[in-house]
Amino acid sequence: MQEITIQTPDDLHLHFRDESMLLNTVPATARCFRRAIVMPNLVPPVTNAERLTAYRERILSAVPPGKHFEPLMTIYLTDNTDKETVTSAKAAGAVAAKLYPAGATTNSDTAVTDLERLYPVFEQMQKIDMLLLVHGEVTDTHIDIFDREKEFIDQKLQVIHARFPNLKIVFEHITTKDAADFVSQANEFMAATITPQHLMLNRNDLLVGGIRPHNYCLPVLKRSTHQQALRKAVQSGSHKFFLGTDSAPHEKHKKETACGCAGCYSAWSAIELYAQVFEELDALDKLEGFASHYGADFYGLPRNQGTITLKKEQWKIPDAIHLGNGEDIVPFFAGQTINWKVTDA
Ligand code: DOR
Ligand code: ZN
Repeated sequence: MQEITIQTPDDLHLHFRDESMLLNTVPATARCFRRAIVMPNLVPPVTNAERLTAYRERILSAVPPGKHFEPLMTIYLTDNTDKETVTSAKAAGAVAAKLYPAGATTNSDTAVTDLERLYPVFEQMQKIDMLLLVHGEVTDTHIDIFDREKEFIDQKLQVIHARFPNLKIVFEHITTKDAADFVSQANEFMAATITPQHLMLNRNDLLVGGIRPHNYCLPVLKRSTHQQALRKAVQSGSHKFFLGTDSAPHEKHKKETACGCAGCYSAWSAIELYAQVFEELDALDKLEGFASHYGADFYGLPRNQGTITLKKEQWKIPDAIHLGNGEDIVPFFAGQTINWKVTDA
């Protein structure tokens, strides 16, 4: 196949950040996605309706003229989030609330330490049809980082899902066979996003031949058997797995340092990278469901009007993206050649 046209896709999980970075991140996503689920882990985090409304305005002012793009907003759960907070956030347009276990990842220090305290909030979310988005890793220091996702399933996610079986949960950026199996076997209120990096890479790509900070993200890349399980999940065409890039920019100096930040900035090539994976899997016919249908259906959103076209064309991902304030970001897959290019969006 030399060309593929799909209904306009959505990115169901990403980080736009804030302020001047929006001038790069928002156009990068709006170039081919119609909507995106925007993560709330800013400093300070988006914990309520007021912050959400202001943040949405800042994002909308960075949308290039003539582009149709809709940010879908989320709020950040803390130990102090109550029923009124989620209800007013929903009224202000929040589609979901994000659960970060405190300390699990970037800007999660003030997030959740006590899940049970949030049960009345989950009850309310189930009632008002608001989704729960989960960063699925435990944070106990004695648990090995490669086991943290599986432990989260066993200790936490199974419990929440059993207690709130009609609460729609997105298990975000899954990285293990355990997670893929869990989601496949759960009821129809459980789904998962999968990133390009977890489909394309495994932990050898992080650690063999030298440490590669631009492949470092959380949850961390796992061994290749897990990567293969994720590839099988998307190849199967199951509607439980859909596109969420977790595009998460950090300035170059914050990645290339003694204690580097987690996150891959994939927005400038994300749909092309997914197309490459689906082609390798001989499953290009499944790309549209994964990128444009299953996520919208799970969220209860209409599928997008319009299409995008990708052509088989080699191009090189730039070594750096200049932010215009003297800072650079090294994009995911920098300097490497990929085989697909969006030609019409
Ligand atoms: O790699 C990641 N980066 N994983 C996350 O969970 C958060 C994200 C970020 O915000 O930098
Ligand atoms: Zn994320």
